[in-house]
Amino acid sequence: MVRPMSNTRPRILTGDTPTGRLHLGHWVGSLENRVRLQDQYDCFFLIANMHAFTTRAEKPDEIRRDTLEIVKDWLAVGIDPERSTLVLQTEIPAIAELTWLFAMLVPFNRVMRNPTLKAEIDAKDLGDHYSFGFPLYAVGQCADILAFRAQLVPVGEDQLAHIEMCREIARRFDHLYCGVPTTTDDADYPAKGGVFPVPQALVGRIARLVGIDGVQKMSKSLGNAIFLSDEPGDLKKKCNKIFTGRQAATDPGDPNNALFQYLRAFEPDAAKVADLAEQYAKGAVGDGAVKGEVAGAIDRFLAPIRERRRALDGKPGDAKVLEILRAHMTKANAVAEETLRMAKAAMKLDYGRRTLGF
Ligand code: TRP
Repeated sequence: MVRPMSNTRPRILTGDTPTGRLHLGHWVGSLENRVRLQDQYDCFFLIANMHAFTTRAEKPDEIRRDTLEIVKDWLAVGIDPERSTLVLQTEIPAIAELTWLFAMLVPFNRVMRNPTLKAEIDAKDLGDHYSFGFPLYAVGQCADILAFRAQLVPVGEDQLAHIEMCREIARRFDHLYCGVPTTTDDADYPAKGGVFPVPQALVGRIARLVGIDGVQKMSKSLGNAIFLSDEPGDLKKKCNKIFTGRQAATDPGDPNNALFQYLRAFEPDAAKVADLAEQYAKGAVGDGAVKGEVAGAIDRFLAPIRERRRALDGKPGDAKVLEILRAHMTKANAVAEETLRMAKAAMKLDYGRRTLGF
């Protein structure tokens, strides 16, 4: 039997597909938890650049640029490369191999019924011409998580269907190849001899942050996002455009509209927000004043992030990011290779003695 490396802290794995800059929805959905949990967990944060190719195979330049941008956003919000490990997906061969092994453990139709994939097909207008790799990424995501034998996966609500599939695959693998009884509690799989823990999702304090259109979820593709790297001028313009649903300035306002959702998310002075909401509901304060408060609160939140991000601008910033990514490949591969060895041994596939030169 292959024994795992000494295990001090439980592990987190989560990540983002590099599709552009990150926004406030990413912060409240997942980034905030990542930053907060860096000391309690051994954290692995993955850039899903392989997944980016599943819908944009013809755009390698763009994907490379977005890959560096996303790491800059991470470093700017406080993901600390001294404490956490950054994982560049395409440099971890064990993930690709585990994807194959796991693809045999889930029915094809189960993958195709995944509601997150379906929503993405609609949102990106993929119709029936998406690549074979596109639905495969859902299995690949299970391999991302399980390659690091992560116990916890901080994600936005939209990812829950993927995490559920990952849990099913972990259980199935452990039942089939490790003799773990099917009656085992989810928390006890490794203790009963399973290679894989059954990971849990952790959704952020605000599961779904509304966009500036006041209706849809904040999303880059819907054009309703406030980005972590927005400059004060853009931020102000966007805040002025926030849809409030109010007809006349003296109408009673809805103290749960987008303005107040943002204030509750980003204004630390809760008493001030409560007071403003009361006034607003009576029609005693106008949209303009509240928009000013929202812009101020978000600006105070973004200012230090912007500052740290500026330090990573341009070519020197790119070089710094690449240096960190390269340095982290060794640790990421050590863990993922160990997992692959354990999984292959459980599957009676322990023929070779491969080591990676990193
Ligand atoms: N699919 C996720 C997204 O687009 C990114 C992702 C890839 C991920 N692998 C993961 C998230 C593993 C959590 C765990 O946001």
